[in-house]
Amino acid sequence: MADSAARFVPQTNSLAKLQAAAADCQGCDLYRRATQTVFGQGRAKAPLILIGETPGDAEDRAGRPFLGPAGRLLDEALADAGIDRADCYVTNAVKHFKWTPRGKKRLHSKPSSREILACRPWLEAELAILAPQLIVCLGATASQALLGRAFRITKSRGEVATSDSSGWVLATYHPSAVLRAPRPADRHRMRSELVDDLKTACRWLATHVGQANRAMKNQST
Ligand code: URA
Repeated sequence: MADSAARFVPQTNSLAKLQAAAADCQGCDLYRRATQTVFGQGRAKAPLILIGETPGDAEDRAGRPFLGPAGRLLDEALADAGIDRADCYVTNAVKHFKWTPRGKKRLHSKPSSREILACRPWLEAELAILAPQLIVCLGATASQALLGRAFRITKSRGEVATSDSSGWVLATYHPSAVLRAPRPADRHRMRSELVDDLKTACRWLATHVGQANRAMKNQST
């Protein structure tokens, strides 16, 4: 039988119940080496959901998404775009940390397509309960999970598109990709494009969703 979280996902409208059930997920092998499931976190009525790839080392230890270096960059980029993270819901396409040892360090490894698929029922359940107005995919893993394997950040970053399964989606860089860019000039450019894309998301919400105006802080363009 293919790996899947489906049998662990309860029928519920409660994010808290979903999160409690996810703590025991053994839908693929990643749970074996992770400290805990890192479930999504944020406002239940958030108009905007941000989806990353997998928790990193800091997130695995703390049990919360986007806390480490990538999380700090995300917080800064959101603030620069006029978005308060407290108004968003933040989650990952894969809910367990995947890592390889390097000395005393645990280095992040990219999840396989099989692991991404196995974890998808959690993401689908979160999206079904939250029904966000707009989803921001951070990086290729989340983007391809929602927009298809052919999606390329390099080509279609910053555009709001519809996904048959998930509604309105905008894809942008993963903050870790910005941090990993080898040249300072590239890091600078990517950071500023990430902020621009988040501003696009904020503007889109303000234009398309009246109520979202209140949820988002004033954004300077
Ligand atoms: N990278 C992610 O994709 N998610 C996190 O939670 C942290 C780092």
